[in-house]
Amino acid sequence: MDAWENFVAACLQCRKCPLCETRKNVVIGRGTNLKAPLMFIGEGPGEQEDIEGSAFVGRAGKLLDLALEALMFRPDQYYIANIVKCRPPGNRIPTEDEAQACLPWLRFQVKYIRPSIIVCLGSTAAKYIIDRNFRITQERGIWIEKPGFFSILPTYHPSAVLRDPGKKMDFFMDLRQVRSRMQDNGIW
Ligand code: URA
Repeated sequence: MDAWENFVAACLQCRKCPLCETRKNVVIGRGTNLKAPLMFIGEGPGEQEDIEGSAFVGRAGKLLDLALEALMFRPDQYYIANIVKCRPPGNRIPTEDEAQACLPWLRFQVKYIRPSIIVCLGSTAAKYIIDRNFRITQERGIWIEKPGFFSILPTYHPSAVLRDPGKKMDFFMDLRQVRSRMQDNGIW
């Protein structure tokens, strides 16, 4: 077994936090290319993700896919994961302990995939990836550089866009910035 297969096997057995008691599936992520130049990080699986065992396959995921298709992203250009891999009951925000228990799995994924760009979808991802006090409405759309590692762009969570269509244009423009950066860096 290679390192990724080992990681998946270990994740599927994980009992490091109480979310393992209520999950139907561990949601490792979604993507055909484990060396994708772009990685999206969301919050945690919702109901549909829990049922299907895949990331962003419910309503929020459909919106993300639609935006990415409109911008001509190809599925092999990105990988999608979450801060936690098991559904928080009722889609509540994962607790600090749940997130901390799960983050080593996500760190493995980032190290393995080695994306040049990470997009944080929403404030939970931004809190754990960028800064604990991150304020999504004030700070989205602004690049954060981690030289030698990756660039990070925080944007709205697609569920927030579904709740408030006024956020749609900012969300779309943020993804367009990602495309421009990929084109400029010759990774498009
Ligand atoms: N919301 C998330 O944050 N992640 C998913 O995978 C689905 C919905």
